[in-house]
Amino acid sequence: MSPKAPEHTRLFIPGPVEVRPEVLEAQTEWMIGHRSAAFAELYARIQGKLKQVFFTENPVYIYTSSGTGIWESASRCAVRDSAKVLHLTCGAFSERWAETSQLNGKQVDLIAVEWGQAVKPEQLADALQHEQYDAVACVMNETSTGVRNPVDGYAEVLKDYPDTLLLADVVSIFAGAMVDTDAWGIDVCLTSSQKAFALPPGIAFGAVSPAVLERAKEVKNRGYYFDVLALDKSHQKNNTPSTPPIALMFAADKQLDDMLAEGMDARFARHELMAEKTRAWVKKAGFEMFSEEGYHSPTVSTVANTRNMDIAALNAFLTERGMVISNGYGKLKGKAFRIAHMGDCQPEHLDILFDAIDTFLDKEA
Ligand SMILES: Cc1ncc(COP(=O)(O)O)c(C=O)c1O
Repeated sequence: MSPKAPEHTRLFIPGPVEVRPEVLEAQTEWMIGHRSAAFAELYARIQGKLKQVFFTENPVYIYTSSGTGIWESASRCAVRDSAKVLHLTCGAFSERWAETSQLNGKQVDLIAVEWGQAVKPEQLADALQHEQYDAVACVMNETSTGVRNPVDGYAEVLKDYPDTLLLADVVSIFAGAMVDTDAWGIDVCLTSSQKAFALPPGIAFGAVSPAVLERAKEVKNRGYYFDVLALDKSHQKNNTPSTPPIALMFAADKQLDDMLAEGMDARFARHELMAEKTRAWVKKAGFEMFSEEGYHSPTVSTVANTRNMDIAALNAFLTERGMVISNGYGKLKGKAFRIAHMGDCQPEHLDILFDAIDTFLDKEA
């Protein structure tokens, strides 16, 4: 008889990720009104820490949404109706953001590469020679394919195009690897909470440059909920235009303290170590990485299912042992699987996971 599924299942899926009990607990603070002095203090306290982890002097707006909300905000506010946005796509999420821009009425061009490949800076340089763009939108860590795109390389290329804004989705890599917002000149640097930040979902953070605010003034229909000019006006008063996710802000306050106590460099090194450990296991177990050599993500490994393993059966086996991984995303279902090693995940958690997968594979052999 199989053991009963334990109450707690450790998440090795690429979001939501495991949230530590102390962070969950922080959400149970007594509620405060969002127009109170106590709230302004909380907002300012978080803001100072967000700037440190975003490596920016720009304001970091708090969005009451998941990361998708900031896609909409960036697409809508950073691109004029008469202009174009260039999306760099290499998997499900980068494609979806391009669709978001289209659905918000923007003219979209694509540099699209095969899933598993990275978009190279030379491809961007080439495209910019042929067309003018208000913005380039990229996804630094394509969560479906486990590819880390060279955003620092895009930044280098864009130095020759000061009127083209750089919009970067760092959703599944932020706080897991260096995202040097100001040094790279990222104009909108956006992230969700439920990935390498290791918070529950429902709050998102976007560092927005003054150039975006200037551009937004030229956009007639910026929408209402995600208008950067409205967000900025409230931000000046340590506030948000509408009711914010206060409980999640308490959690963010605690998590930011812990992240800074660990040290960002140490945090990034831990993620690299876990990614290397995962790739070593992949090789030993007879699988192959799906992502292009040299562009493997430090936070999520997408593994080609070269052994034709039954991924659903593996997950049933893992769930009985209090763990879960992810099947391949969309068209990669069954053909690949994903192991997230992000947030507060520790190398020893991966040892337990790999032991369990090895046991499953031995059993199936
Ligand atoms: C790279 C990337 N961008 C954007 C999103 C969408 O973010 P959210 O689900 O927080 O709206 C995801 C979700 O997995 C993602 O992985």
